[in-house]
Amino acid sequence: MLKVMTLSRELYTHSLNVCLLGVGLATALGWQRDQVSSLGVALFFHDLGLAEDAGQESVPLPLSLHDEEALSPHAEASAQAVAQLPEVDDEALEMVRCHHENLDGSGSPRGLSSTQLSAAARLARIVDIYERATSGCFKSEVLSAFAALQMMRNEMREQLDQEMLSALVRFLGQA
Ligand SMILES: [Fe+2]
Ligand SMILES: [Fe+2]
Repeated sequence: MLKVMTLSRELYTHSLNVCLLGVGLATALGWQRDQVSSLGVALFFHDLGLAEDAGQESVPLPLSLHDEEALSPHAEASAQAVAQLPEVDDEALEMVRCHHENLDGSGSPRGLSSTQLSAAARLARIVDIYERATSGCFKSEVLSAFAALQMMRNEMREQLDQEMLSALVRFLGQA
């Protein structure tokens, strides 16, 4: 956690927001307490691989959204670090590896398709994109919540789990 906090305040804020949003959404979906707990820890560290890269000074932070998408190795680097944490179960660990994968196979690093992506991986993809779009972190254009959800519904229809996105809309409406 120290590495995330000290290397980039932007990365820390993004990580914390994704964690809180993901835990809230998973709880609203009725997931088991243990599963939510494991997911929350893994979500906080889902981009730890970016900090590892920055620590080696090969990648400057903050990164643009495009840069982060292009950095496919960071998902695996994050997973390797998260694997050290006893609180994280196998599903949450695989979620870290898959947080840039899309349902239509256009994601990275493995180009997995819908049948290969767990509910946790689908949830992570959605909360990660929503947080970046609405916070403007990693040099993203800042969108309103409505515009971000509309973009995710229309422009990313084939890439994101639309039922999960509907659950996020309901959750945000209740929050
Ligand atoms: Fe990432
Ligand atoms: Fe992220």
